[in-house]
Amino acid sequence: MSKLRIAVQKSGRLNEDSMRILKDIGISIDNGKDQLKASARNFPVEVFYLRNGDIPQYLKDGVVDVAIIGENVLIEKGGDIEIAEKLGFSKCKVSIAVPKDSTANSLKDLNEKRIATSYPVTVKKFLKEQGLEAQLHKINGSVEIAPNIGLADGICDIVSSGSTLFKNGLKEIEVLLKSEAVLAVSPILNDERKAILETIQFRIQSVLKGRQSKYILLNAPNDKVQDIINVLPGMKSPTVLPLAQEGWSSIHSVISKNEFWDVIDALKEKGAEGILVCPIEKMVL
Ligand code: PRP
Repeated sequence: MSKLRIAVQKSGRLNEDSMRILKDIGISIDNGKDQLKASARNFPVEVFYLRNGDIPQYLKDGVVDVAIIGENVLIEKGGDIEIAEKLGFSKCKVSIAVPKDSTANSLKDLNEKRIATSYPVTVKKFLKEQGLEAQLHKINGSVEIAPNIGLADGICDIVSSGSTLFKNGLKEIEVLLKSEAVLAVSPILNDERKAILETIQFRIQSVLKGRQSKYILLNAPNDKVQDIINVLPGMKSPTVLPLAQEGWSSIHSVISKNEFWDVIDALKEKGAEGILVCPIEKMVL
């Protein structure tokens, strides 16, 4: 029987969250130290621990079937490799930055100037779109040092917290693109492996929906129940159960993490008491 070969980043910012999502979808992996390949104990999956920058080529060649990878790397090196799921973690930007005292305010201001970057394909694409030209210096790491050592007038690199830019006396002047971890799929995938991928995608969607939602329980006097239900934007109609105390009910529902505080404020205003909010592990709709 075929196994689905999944590439994950060997080390770096995506590694931990990639392993967590595999665990959350019920895939247990025995991974010894420095092991580059491991099989799941309970699922037809093999995990390959690879260097980030090599993963797009492995996908193109069909050496691995799917990969958890940053969209930024895929855009730079992946050509038209398909994205099956956006995974909601490792969010970052690919940005243009210049020294704090530079007068440049956008990529346009770096026309015919020197830009150091690990993302030459991406930068070229944006330069071309805007009818600009620049001298690109490809550097594989520590790009932020380039302006300080006189190698470049600006840089293009990933920005997450912004602390690397700050520490190196740089300021962000233009965001070229926003990125997050994605599940990318090789164009070469047989039917047996496609079926395993479908199961994995279904499980990932359940985990992601769970992560985006909260389970909420609260108590309210019976005459306030309808007002409270009206402010709950849950999945379907909420559950209403009688409390042992006469005239009171318990209301249970699911709310989105994004609207959480607004909903809590509205519930309090409508007379809700004893509000409990719990994380949701998985949500199967
Ligand atoms: C990346 C990137 C920046 C830094 C930005 O490096 O190259 O240097 O993160 O993150 P921040 O905005 O949170 O400071 P990373 O540590 O991922 O390693 P890399 O040099 O291998 O890309």
